[in-house]
Amino acid sequence: MEIEEVTSVTSRAKQEALLKDAYGRAIRDLRISVTDRCNFRCFYCLPHGEPPFAPKAQMLSYEEIERAAEVFVALGIEKIRLTGGEPLMRRDIEMLVAKLARLKAQGLRDLAMTTNGYFLPARAAQLRAAGLDRVTISLDSLRRESFARITGVDALARVLDGIAAARDAGFKPIKINVVVVRSYNEDEVADLAAFAREHDLVMRFIEFMPLDAAYDWSREKVVSGREIRQRIERRFPLVPIEEERGSSTAVRFLFADGAPGEIGIIAPVTEPFCGACSRIRLTADGQIRTCLFSTVEHSLRDVLRSGASRDEIGAFIRAVVMKKEKGHRINDPDFVPPARTMSFIGG
Ligand code: 5AD
Ligand code: SF4
Repeated sequence: MEIEEVTSVTSRAKQEALLKDAYGRAIRDLRISVTDRCNFRCFYCLPHGEPPFAPKAQMLSYEEIERAAEVFVALGIEKIRLTGGEPLMRRDIEMLVAKLARLKAQGLRDLAMTTNGYFLPARAAQLRAAGLDRVTISLDSLRRESFARITGVDALARVLDGIAAARDAGFKPIKINVVVVRSYNEDEVADLAAFAREHDLVMRFIEFMPLDAAYDWSREKVVSGREIRQRIERRFPLVPIEEERGSSTAVRFLFADGAPGEIGIIAPVTEPFCGACSRIRLTADGQIRTCLFSTVEHSLRDVLRSGASRDEIGAFIRAVVMKKEKGHRINDPDFVPPARTMSFIGG
């Protein structure tokens, strides 16, 4: 198909996505990791010791990311989320944000970023001005010591400032990601819910997944979505938001007493939602991953650097999407965790 043709069918793609996998799932959500570097060392994300950062030449340039994103959007991608590592570690990321924001004229509906929040005090306003629609900030603890124990840095106050800066810049809603890990922060779940009420935040509690590559993961450390809900409801009764769940990873709740804020519970381990997955990922070094837990990758970088036309890039993406796995196999006895960590894959 000619690219003009691809572009002209973008509106039609809203109803019948061009990107469909072999199981009939429409792929509308792209996560782009822009760097594997991070100034934090969250134990659930990075391997122990100095992480093996990839050399710069292997990273996609902003031009390459833009070119890829343009084709993805022409194929029906509606949401792009920039992740890392820490995306704000990449120089002038605002430039990339501004370029990608232009794709909204071509069918992109939502441009978001997941960040650890550390650089937001200085940069939230610029990001907003560049066209970023939403931010998700990681915050696993409200206690200085356990924050440092989890992330490896004594930066709780700074991240709280980052959340405030995001609000001042006009981001709304602000989502917070909490990875709940037994013996680290499960006792803080209700306090974090209280924080959501106080600051009108969407607080999303995520089960610990085997993506850490240091192999700290064990089933005993997984705090189930069910337990998370019980811990919150002992203090704050919840009412589920009635909705089609769609491809959303989170089951969402409001506070029964009408307080501000929202709770999301993401339970990929105990209640897999792969059947409705609409996501695909591009790593910082240009590999397409069709699942967080994929054991194979597909080099879009090689295609981009071979001088391929847009049609050829589009054909490659469509072929890769057809290989998307039916689901993760965390609960299978022969599960093998992916060799790459979350810092590389992007959340
Ligand atoms: N399990 C669950 N969530 C994780 N994240 C990173 N590693 C893991 C893991 N092992 C989440 C963090 C971060 C996002 C990018 O991914 O919450 O916000
Ligand atoms: Fe950095 Fe985010 Fe990974 Fe923590 S979870 S080490 S903040 S990329």
